[in-house]
Amino acid sequence: MKEKILAKFAEVFGDNEGAACFFAPGRVNLIGEHTDYNGGHVFPCALTIGTYGVARKRKDRKLRFFSMNFEPLGIIESSIDDLTPRKEAGWTNYPKGVMWAFKERGMEMDCGMDILLNGTIPNGSGLSSSASVEVLTGHILRELFDFSVSNQDLALIGQYSENHFNGVNCGIMDQFAIAMGKENMAIFLDTADLSYTYAPVALKGAKIVIACSNKKRGLGDSKYNERRRECEEALAEIQKVRNIQTLGELSGEEFEAVKDAIGSDIRKRRAKHAVYENERTVKAVEALKNNDILRFGQLMNASHDSLRDDYEVTGRELDTLVEEARKVEGVIGSRMTGAGFGGCTVSIVKDEAIDRFIEEVGKNYLERIGYKADFYVVEIGGGPVTL
Ligand code: GLA
Repeated sequence: MKEKILAKFAEVFGDNEGAACFFAPGRVNLIGEHTDYNGGHVFPCALTIGTYGVARKRKDRKLRFFSMNFEPLGIIESSIDDLTPRKEAGWTNYPKGVMWAFKERGMEMDCGMDILLNGTIPNGSGLSSSASVEVLTGHILRELFDFSVSNQDLALIGQYSENHFNGVNCGIMDQFAIAMGKENMAIFLDTADLSYTYAPVALKGAKIVIACSNKKRGLGDSKYNERRRECEEALAEIQKVRNIQTLGELSGEEFEAVKDAIGSDIRKRRAKHAVYENERTVKAVEALKNNDILRFGQLMNASHDSLRDDYEVTGRELDTLVEEARKVEGVIGSRMTGAGFGGCTVSIVKDEAIDRFIEEVGKNYLERIGYKADFYVVEIGGGPVTL
């Protein structure tokens, strides 16, 4: 990959002298969905697929970006004096947002850069290609400009730029999973205080299979921000009868005792998902530690059902993938992953069932939805690196 991206960099920018190569992963969330902005737990892991980058400082203040995933767009030019979001800047709003967020923290670039990216994460798949680009950009800035930031800072800066530069009110999960990734480990993160532990994902005889629905979505125009608002409103209603800071503080039982303070059925169901999904995540990590993969799978299934029925973020495509997955013998659990509204599902599938899984789910999805799904048997990788 290094040779390939260096050669492309030379082709696009004239030569590759002094250019360095970098990588940041994508992520998949195993369980704990739509809990990260509710002070709950999440359990994601970084992947070995992600975003490769080549970068080099310039002598002037220009920024030149090129993405091998959007070749027809050619070189997109800007400058470090113009770090404002612009529609016509397209995908470059993500790296520019990170440069802006560094500047906000007093870490200002003193020259421009040429940057080439090549992502191996399918775009818009829900495997966090944008967070991957954000963390990658942060890592590149740290390396080339000697900014002193930890990996956890990279996650927070990435989230800050996405919230305040790109207008998506996302939680911390994606950037954290990517910046803090560790090979073969999932990250059990408490989003209330960012305390975390790593848990080995030893699936003994099974693998993580991702099915991409190919239904495209953009978080900005999805109902993501709406769900977040609904949860905030439900929290405010509960706060009238109970002193809590986040929905994540409530157990299922405690929620049942206060839920009638929520004035609408829709908000009640949104909050119910947030509370019970948080409980499921804690239980799932326990199950994994006890090598109880079957229990882990059941909790994954329950997570999807709650996202479908109470949180209403799945949609026909993801529901079809999950329905078909669960028909295949050897599937331990299957659920949507990420924000939803399109994107991917994550399934734990026994080794001997993987080929059959891909064939049967693929065939039935095509028949029912009218276009094909893509499948990836993935591995858990580490955080951002210089290659
Ligand atoms: C997106 C957001 C995350 C998280 C998930 C849902 O991936 O970026 O912060 O909220 O959706 O769990």
